[in-house]
Amino acid sequence: MNILVIGSGGREHALVWKIAQSPLANVIYAAPGNSGMDGLATCVSLNSSNHNAVVAFCHEKNIALVVVGPEVPLVEGLVDRLDSENITAFGPSAAAARLEGSKGFTKDLCARYNIPTAAYGRFTEPEMAHAFAIKMGAPIVIKADGLAAGKGVIIAETIAQAHAAIDDILGGQFGEAGAELVIEDFLVGEEASFFALCDGDNILPLATAQDHKQVGEGDTGPNTGGMGAYSPAAVMTDEMTRRTINEIILPTVRGMKEEGHPFRGVFFAGLMITDKGPELIEYNVRFGDPECQVLMMRMKSDIVPALIACAKGGVDKVDMTWHDTSALTVVMAARGYPGNYDKNTEIRRLDQAGQDENTFIFHAGTKKENGKTLATGGRVLNVTAVGENVSAARDRAYAALDQIDWPQGFCRRDIGWRAIKREKE
Ligand code: AMP
Ligand code: GLY
Repeated sequence: MNILVIGSGGREHALVWKIAQSPLANVIYAAPGNSGMDGLATCVSLNSSNHNAVVAFCHEKNIALVVVGPEVPLVEGLVDRLDSENITAFGPSAAAARLEGSKGFTKDLCARYNIPTAAYGRFTEPEMAHAFAIKMGAPIVIKADGLAAGKGVIIAETIAQAHAAIDDILGGQFGEAGAELVIEDFLVGEEASFFALCDGDNILPLATAQDHKQVGEGDTGPNTGGMGAYSPAAVMTDEMTRRTINEIILPTVRGMKEEGHPFRGVFFAGLMITDKGPELIEYNVRFGDPECQVLMMRMKSDIVPALIACAKGGVDKVDMTWHDTSALTVVMAARGYPGNYDKNTEIRRLDQAGQDENTFIFHAGTKKENGKTLATGGRVLNVTAVGENVSAARDRAYAALDQIDWPQGFCRRDIGWRAIKREKE
């Protein structure tokens, strides 16, 4: 079958790489894709917000499966449109994508279905928000309700910071996404992510991961899209995974179905493992970037039947096995990211790096020009490796990374530190 992958990041390169190993895949297209996909997929310049153009492309190229990588096209209803054209698509409807697109929607669902999460309030009026913040006390978390590219969450250490964040968000800092805000209790514990596929009724648990959101070593500095990740996450013991499924994921599946918008796609649950157990921080309704890269390296089974089953049903019957290894990915970003950075700097020696079967370099923001590889984005490369534990995967990933010659790039040197500390103990 011909398959179209929507998106251009490292996540989509990893999905294309995995899909290309499927005996079911014939021609793979990526829109817009990136230059790392050369040889695996044909990159096409399609605007995913133009649903007519996507549908016309699918008919023309006889596409049997569309895999939507990022959240924006999901929230915009691309999958609803493809469904109405009888084109099989992986990803939730716009109504179900509100689990990521509206933090208030998710908090209300948690309240109705008894899903453990931080106590909260939803506000559109500054006076009420300020009063609620004073009542709750600091530390406290202020969140823009809508999609804000990972920047809409402020952890206020003091009430003064909370007041400032409320005024910034309701004052329009995030545009429409901040017309409403959620204020919630600060949860204490260790963060982890859990991924599960869902066909609206049933789930297929995938795996756990941890990422490093902050730009600086020791998890310091401003937040980014993620500077590295690894899987599995040791804090997610079998017991915590079981509780996450029973207390968080399955009640969500039931709630979404009962309320008329069954969820089909991947749950990416951001969790805080507190002393009471797992609590939901947030849902994303797509694979994580760079979490997807480590998941794909560990996945042994063909991914294509699992993606199709999310759309068509029977996901719980899909055979899914995993390599008994850990995987770790280190993001190489352009110096200056997440602030301003130079574009079109040259990356050399990429072909020499990461040549063994346990290592793979996914591209996130590169282009090829006159035989040269140029950096075009903030996050540019994901140097990914597997090993018998996180420490071994880490050693391989950094060994490959150190062969890359890109003076205008940087990375964190401590990806995986929590897991590695545990492994040493
Ligand atoms: P989110 O975009 O909702 O995942 O929030 C971004 C980050 O803010 C999370 O990964 C957490 O590190 C932190 N965070 C969000 N909500 C809370 C909370 N209620 N308590 C503690 N930390 C939080
Ligand atoms: N790495 C976090 C995310 O994809 O949202």
